[in-house]
Amino acid sequence: MSKASFVVAVAGATGAVGREMLRTLEQRSFPISKLVALASERSAGQKLPFGGGEVVVEELGPKSFEGVDIALFSAGASVSREYAPIAARCGAVVIDNSSAWRMDPDVPLVVPEVNIEAAKTRPKGIIANPNCSTIQMVVALKPLHDAARVKTIIVSTYQATSGKGQAAVEDLLQQTRASLAGETVTPTVFPGQMAFNVLCDWKAGEDDYSEEELKMVNETRKIMGDAAIGVSPTTVRVPVVNGHSESVHVQFHRPMTADEAKRLLRGAEGVVLMDDAYAPGKHPQPFSAAGTDPVYVGRVRDDLAVAGAIKMFVVADNLRKGAALNAVQIAEKLFVQR
Ligand code: A2P
Repeated sequence: MSKASFVVAVAGATGAVGREMLRTLEQRSFPISKLVALASERSAGQKLPFGGGEVVVEELGPKSFEGVDIALFSAGASVSREYAPIAARCGAVVIDNSSAWRMDPDVPLVVPEVNIEAAKTRPKGIIANPNCSTIQMVVALKPLHDAARVKTIIVSTYQATSGKGQAAVEDLLQQTRASLAGETVTPTVFPGQMAFNVLCDWKAGEDDYSEEELKMVNETRKIMGDAAIGVSPTTVRVPVVNGHSESVHVQFHRPMTADEAKRLLRGAEGVVLMDDAYAPGKHPQPFSAAGTDPVYVGRVRDDLAVAGAIKMFVVADNLRKGAALNAVQIAEKLFVQR
């Protein structure tokens, strides 16, 4: 597609990720001739800020993609299953943030820092954006994998409420207000108390693993192109608005030291290494990562229990690098000469 500017549609434009997609397109001056903001019937006519003005939300329908060059989807898996093929038939390149197409062998699953080449072969006209927890982990693992090939990953996540959508953030805030006022907490989105608590709130997967945990297993292997990587995840929701954190233990096919890992991570694409000596507060944090682009890696240490393995703490804004930014970066790599 050798055009100077593009018609870009955002399906799910009123949602937590959709709004971030609009902000990211604007902040990065993506060359847009027309922005089509799509959501459900409920939001038709609503105005969203874009490009110094406003864009009027339209109801998503089968005709929404006529003349669209690039369609970014973040309106849930069932919307993507139905409408992504329609958008692709209209000639749009679809970049889908839902889980609907990620494991389809004819759909590339792409993190630009790791496997942008895969985005060039897309038999269905669809590219999948990985799960937010997986994206930030593989960005941090990529330089280490290139040097020593990752064998085993043991990861625990501390995931923000915005990963579950805007309504989940509002549930956390209203629960927090009710708790502080000494009132009864009535959850509206989470399956229990989220304020001042941690939850495992994902759907059940298989063998007592959650769907979210299995996404981290399968998507990591597909993106890294290595089906032999062992991934053992525990995913947990914490009462943070925005920004996922991960404690990651990594074993390689040869011994790796923390010093070598820091050398490899320093300057790696998409990574900011925080390598201050241990001091309380000087580590990657979701509060400071929120609203920024990088994957922050800190607390890189030699593992005390397994010789030749390392540990690290990985933090990123789940709405940005974990979703909207990754999608926009894919579009930039494919269509924009910079
Ligand atoms: P709407 O705001 O009109 O409900 P979030 O992930 O923050 O929950 O946002 C989900 C996004 O997906 C919103 O923009 C929402 O629009 C949109 N959406 C949900 N269901 C549909 C649907 N059936 N058709 C079109 N858009 C939908």
